[in-house]
Formats: sequence, C-alpha cells, structure tokens
Amino acid sequence: MQDRKAIIAIDGHSSCGKSTVAKDLAKELGYVYIDTGAMYRSVTLFAMNNGFVNNGTIDEGGLSKNLEKVNISFKYQPEEKINETFLNGESVEDAIRGLEVSNNVSAVSAIAFVRKRMVELQQAMGNQGGIVMDGRDIGTVVFPDADLKLFMTASASIRAQRRYDELTAKGEVVNYEEILANVEQRDHLDSTRKESPLRQADDALVLDNSDLNKAEQLEWIIEVLKERNLA
Ligand code: DC
Repeated sequence: MQDRKAIIAIDGHSSCGKSTVAKDLAKELGYVYIDTGAMYRSVTLFAMNNGFVNNGTIDEGGLSKNLEKVNISFKYQPEEKINETFLNGESVEDAIRGLEVSNNVSAVSAIAFVRKRMVELQQAMGNQGGIVMDGRDIGTVVFPDADLKLFMTASASIRAQRRYDELTAKGEVVNYEEILANVEQRDHLDSTRKESPLRQADDALVLDNSDLNKAEQLEWIIEVLKERNLA
C-alpha cells in the first residue's frame, strides 16, 4: 500500500451504478466519496427554485449573476450510509434525485460557467488525494492525472430498470418508459454537448457492469488497485 492517498476518477453514463461502486470503494479504502452529479443537480435545483428555468429554457444571465450564492456541501450520514447533499445549508438529497431535476440537469450542466465553477470546487475538494470522485469529466478534465480512471457503462435498458427500482423503492410513482427515454436523452446530451462531453479518457479502464453484481465489480477494481500498488 502506498503512503500517498490516491485520486480515483470514475466516469460513465448516467445510472450505471457509478455512485454505488464509488461509495463502496471509498468505504473499503477509507477515502472520501464525492458525487459530482449531485453538485450539478444542486445547481439545477437552485436554478429551478429561483426562476432561472422556465419550460426547459435557462436564463443564463440570471443564473450567472447568482451562481456565487450557490453553496454545496456533503455530510456523511452513518446511519443511512449516505453522503447527504446540502444546498445553502438545506438538505436537498431527495429533491435533487426527482424527475424534474433529472429533466433539467443536462441543460444546466452544459453551461460553461457552471462547469468552470463546479470543476474549481471539485479540484479543491480532491487535490489532497484520498478521494473517489464520480461524474462525467473527472478523468478527462477535473483530475487528468488521477491515479486510476474507470469508465463505467451498462445497457440503457438495464440502467433505466435500476433507476426505476431506486425511485419506486423511495415511493415515487414513475413510469419505466419515461425513465428509459430520460436515460437515452441524457446519454445523447452528455456525449454531444460542446462543454466537456462525456468521453472515455485514453488511459481509463472500461467497466461494463451489465452482468456484474456489486461485489464482483468491487473485487475487480480492488485487484486493479493492488496491481498498481494503490491498495
Ligand atoms: O450522475 P448523475 O446522473 O447524478 O448526473 C446528473 C447530470 O449531471 C448528468 O446528466 C450529467 C451531469 N454531470 C456532468 O455533466 N458532469 C459531471 N461531472 C457529473 C454530472
């Protein structure tokens, strides 16, 4: 095991279980987990709550002027074993996972000034090492020198089913077809946007977890870390 704590970047499509793997891995290594999707979701909620999103159109001028008022933090909740997300001191963990935020987050996260601010915050949170950070541009933009880069994916139908199960378990009444459409639309928007599109870093390892369970994925990653002398 090396002395310096590593930076582990996990990128990939939406709803392919990045956060589950990232959380498990952080726990196993005693590292901090940072969910950058939650940060873009929080900015989206802020924009919605303050009237900067109207029928899917973003008032970029308004959002830009108010972005400095967005304060995002995480607090680990040991009982529920979750990293609770706070927006300006208020827990937004449930609100940011709903379909309304999901439907607007691609547009908000495509804005250059939003990305610039989030990337600065993410670099400040992680540059000491000892972190597992998941998102879309962690290995390509936020930490291009990360010690390990993973690119995760799974088929769109499997990802939609997982999202459906997750939301249903929370008591939300949702429609599978709608969720599948949202997953496919976000894949498209995330991969084709101008600012930091989702792409696999040249030195990332691909993890397709369509047929792998949680334990198998974690085992696979730990093996890679051991080979690299990082665990
Ligand atoms: O991982 P997620 O589904 O919670 O992410 C929500 C959205 O935020 C997703 O549509 C893409 C965007 N995102 C991003 O552009 N860059 C990141 N590093 C993380 C998320």
